[in-house]
Amino acid sequence: MKTAVILFGPPGAGKGTQARRLSVQLGYPAVSTGDILREAVAAGTELGQSARKYMESGMLVPDDVVDGIAKDRLMRPDCALGFILDGYPRTIHQAQHVENLFSPGDLCTVVVGIRVEDEVLLRRLAGRRTCPGCAKMFHVQSSPSKAGDRCDECGTQLVQRRDDSEEVVKERLRVYQENTRPLIDFYKVRKVYSEVDGSGTVDVIFGSISGIVDAQISRGVMSA
Ligand code: AP5
Repeated sequence: MKTAVILFGPPGAGKGTQARRLSVQLGYPAVSTGDILREAVAAGTELGQSARKYMESGMLVPDDVVDGIAKDRLMRPDCALGFILDGYPRTIHQAQHVENLFSPGDLCTVVVGIRVEDEVLLRRLAGRRTCPGCAKMFHVQSSPSKAGDRCDECGTQLVQRRDDSEEVVKERLRVYQENTRPLIDFYKVRKVYSEVDGSGTVDVIFGSISGIVDAQISRGVMSA
């Protein structure tokens, strides 16, 4: 049985941070539709050109585009045993699309919501810096680079995401409430949703998430 871990939460909740750690622990790839879209924007591909205006204004890229990206990525051989999703699905349509990609009974789905107050989210996003070279993520206060404004891993100049401006973040939070939050009920009905307090340190939150994931995977394997 294949395992799908879905890390769920508003912008800045720490999905990307936790997905990378979980990927190392479980040995499954972390798949971020946001990262894939940003790479396409940076490369100036047709996909990137069409996605750019949505991303820079804080809106969702249309479902059919993102569903296509997710399908291509999840069908790759490195996802054969499992994968960790960060930022996908984000609408009911996308959630149904993931379900339909796999035969019933072939997928053990674990959804972990990361709950964080808006005030904290705004602080996290305002201070986030990312490395365009190796994708390592920093925060100017909670996890600064040892090399100042350069990546302490590969030396590349760190950048601030264009959609982390205050105005765009407010729109992203609004879009989350309207389009993405309803997925909590979608997954509660399926009895695969759990939630963690995302206001603590990265280590504490990771402990909570991995505890849930381990327990759900064992339950899924036993019921298979
Ligand atoms: P995407 O890239 O997915 O952004 P997001 O969901 O808004 O989430 P973020 O990446 O902003 O935050 P995160 O939860 O990953 O937090 P992080 O770990 O980075 O999407 C961007 C855009 O692409 C969307 O607006 C949309 O246009 C498009 N898109 C993507 N997917 C789509 C889809 N499925 N459908 C349609 N459109 C789609 O952490 C944030 C900061 O906080 C970092 O600096 C980090 O170091 C710090 N931090 C993390 N945890 C902690 C902690 N515990 N304590 C202190 N600091 C912390």
